[in-house]
Amino acid sequence: MSRVLEGRPSPARQILNPAQSNPLLRYEYARGSNYEVDTRLTAALSALVPEGELNHADHRFFQITHLVTEYAWVAVHHTLCDLAAGLRAGNLVLAARHLDRCCGLSALPVAAVRLLLDSLPQLSLLSMRAMFPPNTTGLDSPGARNLRRAGRAVWNEFEALMTRRGTNLDDLVSAADPGFSGDQERAALADVMARLHRFDARILEWKQVHLHMVWVLLGGQPDTAEELDHARQDPVSLRGRPISDLERMAARPLFPRLWQQSTKVFRRVVDGDEASRIPAINNVAPGGTPMTEPGHEAVSHPISADRVLLQELDAAGAADIVAGRVLPGQAWAEGYPLEGTKVAAGMVVRLVRSGGYRPGFGMYQIVDRMSGQVVGDVGFHSSPDESGSVEIGYGLVPGHRGKGLATEAVRALAAWAFRQTGVAELRAETDVHHAASHGVLVRAGFELLAVEGETRRYVLRRGRLTR
Ligand code: HEM
Repeated sequence: MSRVLEGRPSPARQILNPAQSNPLLRYEYARGSNYEVDTRLTAALSALVPEGELNHADHRFFQITHLVTEYAWVAVHHTLCDLAAGLRAGNLVLAARHLDRCCGLSALPVAAVRLLLDSLPQLSLLSMRAMFPPNTTGLDSPGARNLRRAGRAVWNEFEALMTRRGTNLDDLVSAADPGFSGDQERAALADVMARLHRFDARILEWKQVHLHMVWVLLGGQPDTAEELDHARQDPVSLRGRPISDLERMAARPLFPRLWQQSTKVFRRVVDGDEASRIPAINNVAPGGTPMTEPGHEAVSHPISADRVLLQELDAAGAADIVAGRVLPGQAWAEGYPLEGTKVAAGMVVRLVRSGGYRPGFGMYQIVDRMSGQVVGDVGFHSSPDESGSVEIGYGLVPGHRGKGLATEAVRALAAWAFRQTGVAELRAETDVHHAASHGVLVRAGFELLAVEGETRRYVLRRGRLTR
């Protein structure tokens, strides 16, 4: 593409809506000006569906709101790359500026989706939707996907920087206090942390407004579910997934540790909970509504450890696993689901159906924080019995064994369990030939109780968990 030396347009032009009879209403572009060349506007406008191919009066509006969003996410992504470099260089001033820009840019997709919420009639959407091929889904948005990946890269850089500066989230929360007069470098890092949190809130804001728009345009608002005729299926996406899946996605942040930290600080300050001072394993108790009907429950918050997150499956997710379906938005490592995954998911489904499920005492997928892939499972076989005993099980895909991830997962799950009322001990069983599994349990503090045939039985008593 060459610049026009005079910088002014030539008479050449293209018209977006050539069928328009009023010449004043014809949208002319590609006039060869430097402005258009430098911004590549001609190429960008050529991406619009030609006027003659628009299949609905609102098609143009619909496409543009998507494009604006995707462009804004590219800009956010670009800025996140700069942010990651700034964090790696330890340049906190730059990092703060990049994050301010990310926050500002994230307002664009929120505005776009709000525009749809405010002015796209439901019947417009439904008739356009009827023309989309099945399996058209926002899950394939490159912007959203790359944002999640870049978010992980940024978080890794931020954690590495905290480690290099010998600090952690607890310290940074203190350093963010207006009365803090200590190390000013730490205060600057605390500002970066606060901006990361603000940015994540903006992304969640988009997800929430998008969800509200979906409730308006497709239905499925959960609080009104009982008013629907239950013989009919709840609204589903073009992938055939219930809208309740989207509720779960709409609460999933980029930086879960920051949200967990808020809970932790609340517990410490308001509940006076000393245990939440321990920074090694940053647990958050699964909360939310107890599971009831499949497809309508809130999923619990993840339990977090250094390299893995434990994400509890809800009953709908467990039913999907049993049915061999991949869960929305998940990437599975090779070898997943494991043989035991379906068995454990089946137990969750049965527990929920029988009313024996206690929130949090289900099955958790082990998510590798580096890759974001599900690499295995860990979880409880039931709720604790009257004596406070509950059995756990776990498994990792072969490619992720031998790195200590299972030990981390078991420790994090056990730490969470011992924070719950009525849990006195955890039990586990392994095959006598499975040396690695034995190692996982022993490293976490389990004692061998007995060997019965091919089975080793272990117990971990309250207070014996090792860190
Ligand atoms: C105009 C009406 C819209 C409707 C009815 C709609 C509907 C949905 C539905 C039902 C899902 C759930 C996923 C599935 O099962 O397929 C979804 C996900 C998604 N949609 Fe939309 N959507 C709309 C507009 C948009 C716009 C403008 C964008 C901007 C790019 C967008 C981006 C996404 C993304 C990124 C997801 C994945 C969820 C997430 O990452 O949290 N959608 N959408």
